Amino acid sequence: MDHSRAPVLEALQEFRERGYVPFTPPGHRQGRGVDPRVLDVLGREVFEADVIALNGLDDRLMRGGVIEHAQELMADAVHAEHAFFSTCGSSLSVKSAMLSVAGPHEKLIVPRHAHKSVVSGLILSGVCPVWISPDWDAERHLAHPPGADRVRELFEAEPEAKGMLLVTPTDYGTCGDIRAIADVCHEFGKPLIVDEAWGAHLPFHDDLPPWGMDAGADVVVTSVHKSGAAVEQSSVFHLQGDLVDPKALKAREDLLGTTSPTSLVYATLDGWRRQMVQHGELLLTAALALAESTRSVIERLPGLHVMEFGGLVHSFDPLKVVIDVSGLDISGYQATDWLREHQRVTLGLSDHRRIVAQFTQATTTARPRSSSRRCER
Ligand SMILES: Cc1ncc(COP(=O)(O)O)c(C=O)c1O
Repeated sequence: MDHSRAPVLEALQEFRERGYVPFTPPGHRQGRGVDPRVLDVLGREVFEADVIALNGLDDRLMRGGVIEHAQELMADAVHAEHAFFSTCGSSLSVKSAMLSVAGPHEKLIVPRHAHKSVVSGLILSGVCPVWISPDWDAERHLAHPPGADRVRELFEAEPEAKGMLLVTPTDYGTCGDIRAIADVCHEFGKPLIVDEAWGAHLPFHDDLPPWGMDAGADVVVTSVHKSGAAVEQSSVFHLQGDLVDPKALKAREDLLGTTSPTSLVYATLDGWRRQMVQHGELLLTAALALAESTRSVIERLPGLHVMEFGGLVHSFDPLKVVIDVSGLDISGYQATDWLREHQRVTLGLSDHRRIVAQFTQATTTARPRSSSRRCER
């Protein structure tokens, strides 16, 4: 396939060049109706790129196949048979995946450390969870993805379970053995869904943990906004094999999703895929080297310790730098608040003894320029 193409970006470009006069949403009409004080903060470009899909990016019947083509390119890039874009984050994608495997009152094996979006999916759908405990790391006070033996025991005890949902990587970067778990699921003829919300970048570098589609999972959900270069809420779910019907999966997404997806999500997903196919290895090699050098600098600082997980988990995402701050007699929460207030450094995950810094293709040694954009009243 021609990965130099970016169908959504091309459609946006064409929409602009043809100078359409829309009488469709969004009502801001590509920024023309927006309060200048809003433009002052957000810039006009963000509104210019916010175009309706139906009779905007594509025609009334979507005959140009703009989104479809972009999804095919994504599937090809990450070795999936099908890829579906979602503008509602992995929160929606995991629900679509769960509902395509099990229905109300049917059972699904779900780990106890699943994200709240999985739990809300269970509540809304009436799917009955067969809980599987993650591996408890008593020394580090952390839950890692469960092993394949436990999955086998559960399928033997609950043969009517329709499939399994696995969460890997965790927010700490620890990964389960997707291949071994997929093999067990398939022995029982059941599909494996992998909530790989933290793993969108994994297909693009060999030094990263195995990617779900390569490791034999049936459905894999990612949040590209977490570790890739797409805007917040950008998610892709992927499918391969014949245990889950692509039409059913798409129909579940249709049932749950918005009828007004933003082109900002589609366009940035499309552009990120092109970037990763063309330059991903180079960009991620640089990010991996930076994470490694940062690790050794932090390890030398008194009171700080960079956690390693070798031997405890199947694999680990080295782009997550997990720092134990307990040697400073403070919690991770205090460290995070202090870093934001005093160093203008923001972190995602923190807990009672740790902070986690996530490195991506965008992480550099340079501090971003501070912007002096101010609203005029
Ligand atoms: C494991 C996991 N799954 C799903 C989600 C939901 O992803 P999103 O924020 O893209 O909706 C998250 C979010 O943090 C997550 O950590």
